[in-house]
Amino acid sequence: MTDIIENKSLKELNSFGLEVFAKKYANPSTIEELTEICNLHQNLDILILGEGSNILFSGNYQGLILHPEILGKEIIEEDSEEVKIRAYCGENWDGFVEYCVNHGWGGLENLSLIPGSVGSSPVQNIGAYGVEVKDRILWVEGFMMGETLIRKIPNAQCHFDYRDSIFKNEWKGKFIITAVVFRLDKKPVINANYGQLSEVFQSKKTQDIRAMRESVIEIRNSKLPDPKKFGNVGSFFKNPVISAHEFQLLKEKFPNIPSFPSKEGIKIPAAWLIEQSGWKGKRIKDCGTWPNQALVIVNYGNSTGNEILELSKKIQNSVFEKFQIKINREVNLI
Ligand code: FAD
Ligand code: EPU
Repeated sequence: MTDIIENKSLKELNSFGLEVFAKKYANPSTIEELTEICNLHQNLDILILGEGSNILFSGNYQGLILHPEILGKEIIEEDSEEVKIRAYCGENWDGFVEYCVNHGWGGLENLSLIPGSVGSSPVQNIGAYGVEVKDRILWVEGFMMGETLIRKIPNAQCHFDYRDSIFKNEWKGKFIITAVVFRLDKKPVINANYGQLSEVFQSKKTQDIRAMRESVIEIRNSKLPDPKKFGNVGSFFKNPVISAHEFQLLKEKFPNIPSFPSKEGIKIPAAWLIEQSGWKGKRIKDCGTWPNQALVIVNYGNSTGNEILELSKKIQNSVFEKFQIKINREVNLI
């Protein structure tokens, strides 16, 4: 049976590096231990914590934090075309991507270097450089809080959307993901359509998924702050999606406004809206926006969750005043 630790510091377990504490904490390493702890503590608020790279703690957590360290990967089925592989929730995401790339299995290489665990990857349907993890998920495995039965949730029932899923909404705090099953290609097709990616990729000696992984890592390292040096959660906000009509009106006022077509409407880079509102590189006390990427809020040292939240609200208000666009948080506020 896993030990329950009282008053556990979460400083190393959230990528903002905030000094907050959990009243109770446990890191079960098997599914049986995880279900048992959940069942025994149904009277407490329970938060499942992956690697804490998309969480903003506004203060100490008064309930039980469960940090599943369930590891392992297993091939379920394979033929000459594809491989179906199960990865358990505690596996590190980028370690898993590297493992797949090293085996020559394509599909996840554009998602290289995204922090976090495999178990969190479906929660906000992680995405980058023209790929979303939903494109490769066959099903998600897990259990409902209070039950022990492992359910298999097929992709179509996960309600995947841009930075969204059933696990971030209706089932938030209710469903615990124990493993994810992916479908990968043995004859990979390269996807180099996003922004500067094609240029960087073309400059590589070989044009394979390994080169794609290197290209993505290179671009990410040039733009995004390393959370080990500067606490952050990647994009703090989602990119807003507006209608073609709203976009037309904005374009008349702001002819240089960048935009990307998406299946829901027109996507506007929140980084641009924030930069144009004068917030790029600005700092209040120990938090501010990253000088190379205005969408990233950074803890420069001793910021608190509330100071970060206050800054983010100021940014939201400025963007709304200037553009009448509401930018919503991507980060999970606890
Ligand atoms: P956590 O922050 O620990 O948890 C996130 C949410 O998932 C919480 O609500 C938590 O309760 C829930 N959760 C975690 N595990 C489980 C589980 N097993 N079962 C049920 N619920 C669970 N994201 C992108 O999409 N694309 C990017 O390009 C990207 N770049 C980033 C760059 C940086 C530098 C950083 C710091 C973050 C970036 N992110 C990006 C955000 C982050 O990496 C992802 O959201 C990641 O999936 C979070 O994983 P985690 O394990 O740290 O989750
Ligand atoms: N831009 C600015 N100012 C900046 C930065 C960017 O104006 O400081 C504008 C530029 O016009 C640029 C555009 O914003 O072309 C897009 O920038 P970028 O390519 O860096 O991507 P993003 O929209 O800011 C999104 C994801 C990232 C993901 C990258 C690459 C969201 C909320 N963010 O960022 O995901 O890595 O694309 O695909 O969709 C995350 O979710 O945490 C995350 C980092």
